[in-house]
Amino acid sequence: MSVITVGLLGFGTVGKGVYETIINHQERLQAILGKEVKVAAILVKNIEKHDFPDKDVLLTDDFQKIIELPKLDVVIDAIVGKEPGYTYLRHAVKRGCHVITANKEMFAHHGSELKSLAKKHNVSLGFEATVGGGIPIIQTLKKLLNANQVERIEGILNGTSNFILTSMREEKLSFESALKIAQEKGYAEADPENDIEGYDAFYKAVVLSELIYGKAPVWEKSTRIGITDITPEQISIASSLGLRFKHVASLERDQKGVRCTVKPVLVGESHPLYRVEGVQNAVSIDADIVGNISLQGPGAGMFPTASAIVEDLIHLETNDFPEIFAEGEGEGIEAALPVWAMIGNLSNLELPNGFEVISYSSDNAVIVKSSEDAAASVAKDDLIAYQILGNHHFSDVRTDQVQPV
Ligand SMILES: NC(=O)c1ccc[n+]([C@@H]2O[C@H](COP(=O)([O-])OP(=O)(O)OC[C@H]3O[C@@H](n4cnc5c(N)ncnc54)[C@H](OP(=O)(O)O)[C@@H]3O)[C@@H](O)[C@H]2O)c1
Repeated sequence: MSVITVGLLGFGTVGKGVYETIINHQERLQAILGKEVKVAAILVKNIEKHDFPDKDVLLTDDFQKIIELPKLDVVIDAIVGKEPGYTYLRHAVKRGCHVITANKEMFAHHGSELKSLAKKHNVSLGFEATVGGGIPIIQTLKKLLNANQVERIEGILNGTSNFILTSMREEKLSFESALKIAQEKGYAEADPENDIEGYDAFYKAVVLSELIYGKAPVWEKSTRIGITDITPEQISIASSLGLRFKHVASLERDQKGVRCTVKPVLVGESHPLYRVEGVQNAVSIDADIVGNISLQGPGAGMFPTASAIVEDLIHLETNDFPEIFAEGEGEGIEAALPVWAMIGNLSNLELPNGFEVISYSSDNAVIVKSSEDAAASVAKDDLIAYQILGNHHFSDVRTDQVQPV
């Protein structure tokens, strides 16, 4: 039986998951591919800390030794950071290897260059694991929604921030206490900035944008707000309105182009992301023919991520991975005026023209419809404007509170 020779870059959580999956699912892989899949070499950074039992596999801290192997079909990138991953994958593509990556930071910055290079060298590029861990969002968008125009995507793309928000609401914890638990459980890094400030979700949104619209959102014009300012009091007010906080990455194409937003928002029971809790991820897609589709599942972890990588491996090798990158066409949809919950101190609130008051549902919150700029203009340190996604019905309308001037 012929062999698919794999070079695996990285032997941490993801790399180990890929290696074990290839060993433990060898029979199934052979049945599908008609070939043996063999990891020939593994790249690590600190070789002294690894004690690798299989002496048939080259364990090295020198990428050159891998790229110069006499036979190398696929290079899998499971290391961290923009570099050296980008440089290594460029070498691999130029050598004629298919490449697969889980490295979203690298791919968000260099995905389009790698796609062009892969096309030029007639090799395939798998990046399912860069977004949503084990959720097959990339292949769904690439292969199964081609006639559809994707109008909007809203996703919970970071399990750590979702776990923190769920714990704060369910256990009535402060942000700091919920973060500590996330760290103790291994969901959050010692330095959690990437997750809680929304960088990780933003990288994933960039990957999705390039896939759907053929271009990245303009970095400077995009919004990225973390979850660190959310308080248990705000969560409790939101709950009294039937709303839950979620840290959502949104992509929408309006007349001004592709807009990417990562920020804390509020969703009601009818929204597809309302029941996505803990470390789960989910992606809600609105497309013009099919309507709304939601995919939910484990957004990270050893085997969910290995699942995405090994599925990519199968599609590369069966040559069933069409390189269709949808170009952004048309004018896009006209953006509707957003709805906001202004939560906090309502005393002295004066709403200028341009606000439509929907409800004064509680003493600490007013629900309004206005442009983003108008909502920002009345927000203060003790009165924060959170966007409400979807159609939420407010039944408890009161008129005994502040009125617009
Ligand atoms: N963890 C997840 O659930 C998950 C999910 C989706 C995507 N990803 C992405 O997958 C990648 C790997 O994540 P991970 O969680 O497996 O990370 P990890 O546990 O920290 O492992 C990283 C591995 O890469 C190696 N490495 C790091 N820098 C290197 C360098 N400059 N040269 C050679 N080897 C290097 C490390 O070597 P040493 O072991 O010698 O230090 C380690 O084996 C990241 O890009 C991450 O964003 C992770």
